[in-house]
Amino acid sequence: MSDNKTLKAVDQKIFKSYFEDGLLDMFLAAFFLMFTVVLFLSVPLGDFWGTMIFLPFLGMVYLVLRYIRDPETGVDFPAKRLDTGLDWDDIVFAPHTREQLEELRAWLEHEKELLDGWQFRKYIKPGYRCLFYGPPGTGKTLTAGLLGKISGRAVYRIDLSQLVSKYIGETEKNLEKIFTQAEMRNWILFFDEADAIFGKRTTISDAHDRYANQGTSYLLQRIEDCPNVVILASNNKSNIDDAFFRRFQSTVYFPIPRKPERLKLWEQGFSPVSTLESDIQLEEIAEQYEMAGGAIMNVIRFASLMAIKKKSRVIAYDDLVSGIQREFNKEGRTV
Ligand SMILES: Nc1ncnc2c1ncn2[C@@H]1O[C@H](COP(=O)(O)OP(=O)(O)O)[C@@H](O)[C@H]1O
Ligand SMILES: [Mg+2]
Repeated sequence: MSDNKTLKAVDQKIFKSYFEDGLLDMFLAAFFLMFTVVLFLSVPLGDFWGTMIFLPFLGMVYLVLRYIRDPETGVDFPAKRLDTGLDWDDIVFAPHTREQLEELRAWLEHEKELLDGWQFRKYIKPGYRCLFYGPPGTGKTLTAGLLGKISGRAVYRIDLSQLVSKYIGETEKNLEKIFTQAEMRNWILFFDEADAIFGKRTTISDAHDRYANQGTSYLLQRIEDCPNVVILASNNKSNIDDAFFRRFQSTVYFPIPRKPERLKLWEQGFSPVSTLESDIQLEEIAEQYEMAGGAIMNVIRFASLMAIKKKSRVIAYDDLVSGIQREFNKEGRTV
């Protein structure tokens, strides 16, 4: 019985958003179609009006395209779908990170059973909110994308730092679009650089801050009410507002990988068509250079490009080391 109720509520919701998003377009399309047919029947082709027939026809094509397009191509849809060619087994996790991810994975797999089968829907808020935190390049985005892949859900990434500056004032309207679509289609929402907006609240000093703060309370509320899986990523856990912190179902730490994980990253990172120069000892390199997966991949890409440039398939030791040097320079570190 409660299942029926839920279904009905979902139907109503879908209908409502259909109405808001699609029905007006459909009315217009029908109107244009009728207009075209009437013109076509009443005016012989070849004269001025014959040419004009194509205007409503073009309008119709536009609307049909708009209707079937993926929402993300809209200029004012500030989310991008995360896609990855990698597989779950390609991620190198620290043991602790993998453990912390287990609850989220269990939720993705058994959410329905818990809420409906075990009838928890009336006791607990639907949705699952999770914080990923850790230095850049440690696999937060990659993991979010792959969680979608293994659970058959689309993952949409919203870059909050961009949103705040670009859509000031428009933020709420644009975000609302994302949430509506997400709820209908069971997307996973991934808020990247979340500290941009969930950061500790500043004093309201100027208009920009005021908007940011308004946006924040709206977002906090909207995320809390969202029945989906919402993942927030931050480079630094301590930047996140305490008020929000309590509302996460779980937090997952992505550390800079330690030696065994770094070794795995080096070992699996190179192309199968390349070979390593004999004086490259990955074991030593992993031991010596403390760096994140993203940086390791940058080095591998650099060294591989250098090999291709020399029309070779052998990765040179010198290129590898200068690649590492470049990564360290980027971060303002010395090798
Ligand atoms: N733990 C990891 N396992 C495998 N590859 C990784 C890992 N961390 C980073 N990478 C590589 O670095 C790239 C960038 O990582 P990303 O997920 O964007 O990091 P973050 O979102 O934490 O800044 C990934 O696409 C992947 O190729
Ligand atoms: Mg990222």
